[in-house]
Amino acid sequence: MTSISTQPIVELRHVQRRFMKDRQVIPVIQDIDLSVYPREILCIVGESGCGKTTTGKMIAGLLNQSEGDILVDGRPIDSYKGKEAAVLRRSLQIVHQDPFASLNPAHTIEQILSFPLQRHGLVNGRAELRRRIWELLTMVDLTPPGDIVHKFPHQLSGGQRQRVSIARALTVNPRLIVADEAVSMVDVSIRIGILKMLHRLRDELKVAIVFITHDLALAKYFAWEGRIAVMYLGRIVEIGRTPDVIANPAHPYTKALIAAVPEADPERTRHKEQVPLRSEEIPKLTDIPPGCAFHPRCNFFQPGRCDTLIPILTPVSEGHQLVACTPLTEDGHLTPYVEPPTVIGTLADQHRQKTNDMT
Ligand SMILES: Nc1ncnc2c1ncn2[C@@H]1O[C@H](COP(=O)(O)OP(=O)(O)O)[C@@H](O)[C@H]1O
Ligand code: SF4
Ligand SMILES: [Mg+2]
Repeated sequence: MTSISTQPIVELRHVQRRFMKDRQVIPVIQDIDLSVYPREILCIVGESGCGKTTTGKMIAGLLNQSEGDILVDGRPIDSYKGKEAAVLRRSLQIVHQDPFASLNPAHTIEQILSFPLQRHGLVNGRAELRRRIWELLTMVDLTPPGDIVHKFPHQLSGGQRQRVSIARALTVNPRLIVADEAVSMVDVSIRIGILKMLHRLRDELKVAIVFITHDLALAKYFAWEGRIAVMYLGRIVEIGRTPDVIANPAHPYTKALIAAVPEADPERTRHKEQVPLRSEEIPKLTDIPPGCAFHPRCNFFQPGRCDTLIPILTPVSEGHQLVACTPLTEDGHLTPYVEPPTVIGTLADQHRQKTNDMT
């Protein structure tokens, strides 16, 4: 397990983010506290629409918060001006899900990589530019580089394009890379190769990686030596070291996510503990349930408590993960919810009905 230093690169403190859409306020990020430490792997996992990309963009300094504070190296991000702001922007990079959309189709790979290197004055002269491009393409396993440099994005496979996007992020020597669903659009067969390469780059370049995915199996694979933050409707509901969260999920939502991951061995899948939900429906962001936003779906719902109190991230036990679940943190256990019986009438009503049936 990699040890992490105490000064985070980026810190989100009580961060909220709202958007306006069709004259309606959409509170996408409710309240997030999250730190990313140097060289760590932090995975953000959750269903589509829970706010992962919005969080990733705020971590990468591409999006302002509506409320709360974002700190970089302990200083508010908006206090960085001029040259300092330019250095900060370079040190935080993002790799998007769709490399086709983020790579200019009219430029060759050489042009795509030359642009940031020249713009930021990171190379001196053509020979050094060429050497650096060759080095970057080798780092992302696009070899021999001579076969790649003169190609356009459409002439590469999806996996190769994503490797170019990663190489482009590396041109500016970042300290942190947000990889947002970076392998979701590439063929399953080549995903592992890209993930292994990201691991290697983290070790070699000492860069922190925030890996965003909706796929818990990928999160488990990629972030085993790091941490996982599980998001639900704009909040983190559980965060901790990956082996702790995977082996001992504490939040009912994390339990349900883990139960839904198929195992390689069908026999193990059959014997996996099932975690039923009371509803499959994800509430709308414009109509977030009060109290714990997961309560309409939670099988451990406690009326009067879960629908009124907003749970706060609290350690489940010393040294273990933080969990936002009121009954769990206050009582230390969860009790399955029992649906109140439907009232079908009194005994007197039933007796009257019987008497009527007999006459
Ligand atoms: N610029 C925006 N304007 C309006 N709504 C947005 C904007 N960006 C994101 N959203 C909404 O915020 C929600 C969460 O988005 P996102 O952060 O992309 O979630 P995820 O990455 O988990 O799927 C979505 O419902 C999305 O439509
Ligand atoms: S707070 Fe209540 S509703 Fe929310 S996850 Fe915990 S038990 Fe379920
Ligand atoms: Mg997303």
